[in-house]
Amino acid sequence: MPAIPAIRLFSGTGMKVEVITSPKSGLWAHFVFCQRLFCRPISLSNKAKIYHGPTANLRRRGRDGFAAMKVGILGSGDVGQALGRGFAARGHEVILGSRTPDSGKLKAWVEKTGNRASTGTFAQAAAHGDTLVLATLGTGAEQAINLAGPSNFAGKLLIDVTNPLDFSKGMPPGLFIGTTDSLGERIQRMLPEAKVVKCFNTVGNSQMVDPTYKEVEMLICGNDKTAKDEAARILKEFGWKGVIDIGGIEGARWLEALVPLWVRVGIALNNWNNVFRVLHE
Ligand SMILES: NC(=O)c1ccc[n+]([C@@H]2O[C@H](COP(=O)([O-])OP(=O)(O)OC[C@H]3O[C@@H](n4cnc5c(N)ncnc54)[C@H](OP(=O)(O)O)[C@@H]3O)[C@@H](O)[C@H]2O)c1
Repeated sequence: MPAIPAIRLFSGTGMKVEVITSPKSGLWAHFVFCQRLFCRPISLSNKAKIYHGPTANLRRRGRDGFAAMKVGILGSGDVGQALGRGFAARGHEVILGSRTPDSGKLKAWVEKTGNRASTGTFAQAAAHGDTLVLATLGTGAEQAINLAGPSNFAGKLLIDVTNPLDFSKGMPPGLFIGTTDSLGERIQRMLPEAKVVKCFNTVGNSQMVDPTYKEVEMLICGNDKTAKDEAARILKEFGWKGVIDIGGIEGARWLEALVPLWVRVGIALNNWNNVFRVLHE
């Protein structure tokens, strides 16, 4: 474990929030200019681990004899690709959804990710998945859901990674929805039968799977307790210590609001592997 410089950002009664950074900062400077992050490759050692899937999603048995899920990911950017690699490396069957599923970029992703991964339209990804992930540009989320077909979301866990970032005034971004509403709530309203869980949106894509820092809990929210339990199980499978569940989907207002701060911290540190960590008893 490298030495971890920790900077406390906030200190309140019984709770401290700190940001942790790793020495890989050089790789991440690019983000400031192009607003995209690099993906960290999934370590091969993951493939040897034993993973548990929910029996509700059982379609086949993975190589370790545990249940494998069908996962549909809407969004083919750095986040979709990183999470898709993470799921596929654990034996789940992934379709990455895009408006251009046959692009050279996505063919290269499939080649690298292996035979449990393929690409499709947003509708094909949404129909395929028992577990769904929304990882589109914030301003494209509603259009992507419409292209996917809202009925394909009914009854399913939808992990919402999107952020309503507003880059119209350049860097660093603001929010195009905030304080009295959120993208998470809009998505839940659009899809009343889906079980939306806001998750992963407060960390960079390099940290989503096999995070560098093992003692960090992910901040999540959503209306459905079973869906949040399932998101927590997936996070464990991805190497996270656990979750802090901040309540119903209206909490997305504050999880999304953390992200313009995260970007400012990234600029200040010139490092995009930062994660906020809550220290608590
Ligand atoms: N990058 C990170 O590290 C990070 C971390 C946490 C959260 N997030 C959030 O996660 C989401 C994805 O981020 P990203 O960096 O992977 O990529 P991104 O560039 O924000 O989004 C790429 C995806 O959005 C889709 N998209 C863009 N405009 C669309 C439209 N009008 N209609 C339908 N789909 C549209 C693209 O579809 P096509 O495939 O058809 O082009 C593509 O799949 C964002 O909301 C971001 O704020 C990002």
